[in-house]
Amino acid sequence: MTQRPGIDAEFAFDPNDAAKAKDFALMARIRREKPVCRPADNIVLVTRYADVTAVFRDSKGFSSVGDMRAPGIVVPAEESFLGELDAPLHPKIRRVLHRTFTIAKAKESEPFTRSAVRRRLEQIVAAGKGDLMAEFATVIPGSVSADLLGFPEEQHAQLMTWCNELLHSSWPPTGRTEKGEGIAAGFPELTACIDEQIERRIADDRYDDLLASMVRSRGDDGWSIGAHHTRTLVVNMLAGSLSATYMVGNLLYRLLTDDGFVAALRGDDVRIDRAVEESLRYEAPVAFLWRTARADAEIAGTPVFAGEHILCHITAGNRDEAAYPDAESFRLDRVEPPEHLAFGAGPHLCLGNHLTRLIGRVVIEEMLSLMERTRLELEPGFVWQCVNHLQEYGPEHLPVRVTR
Ligand code: HEM
Repeated sequence: MTQRPGIDAEFAFDPNDAAKAKDFALMARIRREKPVCRPADNIVLVTRYADVTAVFRDSKGFSSVGDMRAPGIVVPAEESFLGELDAPLHPKIRRVLHRTFTIAKAKESEPFTRSAVRRRLEQIVAAGKGDLMAEFATVIPGSVSADLLGFPEEQHAQLMTWCNELLHSSWPPTGRTEKGEGIAAGFPELTACIDEQIERRIADDRYDDLLASMVRSRGDDGWSIGAHHTRTLVVNMLAGSLSATYMVGNLLYRLLTDDGFVAALRGDDVRIDRAVEESLRYEAPVAFLWRTARADAEIAGTPVFAGEHILCHITAGNRDEAAYPDAESFRLDRVEPPEHLAFGAGPHLCLGNHLTRLIGRVVIEEMLSLMERTRLELEPGFVWQCVNHLQEYGPEHLPVRVTR
């Protein structure tokens, strides 16, 4: 039997320590010196663009099951998010959702997105001050997803508050809270709100929205997603939208602090789209993801063993010089760069990617227009602080005041 290698002492760190796991200078050093290494017991860290991409694409070799749960925690399939399912269930559900998460459908969301963005920005301007994270970036992406799902607008803010609580509760790692097992026991009001909309669509087939297509899903063998799993996937999509929150936060921070960036984007649609892509590449809102090796294998010549956890470092891959020249700089002149890893890659590629790109573009356009009329400034003494979440990267707060 092959002797399992131990921890690489020189590159050791605790992956549950957010400050280390999101220390991009440390990741760059590791990528240069030992791109596939063992920073902790039973953990293999992958940092190069090509290797992270290969692991993401190889869902047969590397499982997604349990990738958001604490060790030893197993939740039933119908309490699982899409990103923690493997075949055969994963592709079945994905086929149903694919019909809605298209570029064309994302375009249809533009009028709603633009009016929601304008209204929220105007509210902050009218108040003279506000927190662009709490009052704007946290609400907008979830509201766009909730609209696509078919929830009435008056429920959006409350839904997002509940999903935010859920995401920061003990439910993601353990599948339970102190109130009990599963989403229904832990979050009864959220459950009641979602279940009511599901029941309406079971009773009435005139609904034409994402929720209705999940309720009506049928496979040849009679398979359907089912009401319980539909509820979980709704939470998945609303909570997943919070990643777009941090992209919006990263873009807003740049707009508020870099006059050259603002000037470069004015009236230039190509650069606006590039700014969204470059933000996703350079400051990926999800810094890393997990996989588990199903069998003994190799990653770029380094042996990995069945059951080992693979820490796929998205930001490290996105800042790999081998894929992006001058990778440590935020640049608006990258012409057709390789697809960044912010949305993952392969079978689990983020379903919300078209919607997210739309949101990014609309937010920039509306901010540029607002900044022509109004002067928005970060509150004096503001210090950028990363959101308190292990994997997410973006500002916790963006307190602004209107000075003109
Ligand atoms: C900046 C915004 C976003 C980022 C950075 C992001 C990131 C990701 C990543 C990295 C994955 C892959 C997970 C894996 O491979 O294990 C993923 C999957 C997913 N995302 Fe997003 N996401 C964003 C926005 C959204 C939005 C707006 C939605 C909802 C409409 C969404 C819904 C999903 C879903 C349902 C999956 C699971 C796909 C699957 O496993 O097949 N995401 N996202």
